[in-house]
Amino acid sequence: MSAPHIIITAGPTIEPIDPVRFLSNHSSGRQGYALAAALAAHGARVTLVSGPVSIEPPAGAELVKVQTALEMRDAVMAALPADAYIGVAAVADWRPATRHASKMKTDKAGFASLQLVENPDILREVSGLTDRRPRLVVGFAAETASDGGALEALARAKLERKGCDLIIANDVSGDAMGGAENSVLIVSRDEVKPIARAHKDVIAAKLGDSVMALLRAPLRR
Ligand code: C5P
Repeated sequence: MSAPHIIITAGPTIEPIDPVRFLSNHSSGRQGYALAAALAAHGARVTLVSGPVSIEPPAGAELVKVQTALEMRDAVMAALPADAYIGVAAVADWRPATRHASKMKTDKAGFASLQLVENPDILREVSGLTDRRPRLVVGFAAETASDGGALEALARAKLERKGCDLIIANDVSGDAMGGAENSVLIVSRDEVKPIARAHKDVIAAKLGDSVMALLRAPLRR
């Protein structure tokens, strides 16, 4: 097999309200960056589409920097075709309907009635592509589920809703979102594989191994 092309999204997106304020989340980008590094080390050609983060870019991956969900979607579509798409980014589900050109005054009633519009679901759009769908489409699910059973059920529902091939599910009740460690379940339609709590680099290496193994094998859907 020649080197597979893998697109990974990582980090948060930020959705501007005005020149100084935005809506976003606590994603550090660590898990996506570590996965990009692990797959590049496997010899894959990795395009890493990243929201704003404060960590160093991984060696061997092509970094495409974006800010908003709309920019992230455009960058992903522009990077196709690919053998695999892995959506690790914590894409903001909503964005302000209007981006104010000047700083909003805090005494203005504007904040109380801030209008939001839904962002595109990039993972669902990539899963639903007809001609350019990557052979393997992987999503992440960050859930506050306390036990493994609940987490697996949430992951299975997400697998169907998004139309992807795998969901990597993790419980973010603790500090998984900004912290250095994580534990995950790899959920496909046929099986569930747990990866025990470990540093995000270790989780990424194991996920990278699984992704490369799936790309080497013929995929069933
Ligand atoms: O629905 P939820 O946000 O929990 O799904 C998480 C998965 O969907 C992640 O893989 C994330 O990158 C992706 N996603 C997306 N576009 C959105 C929201 C989530 O691609 N607007």
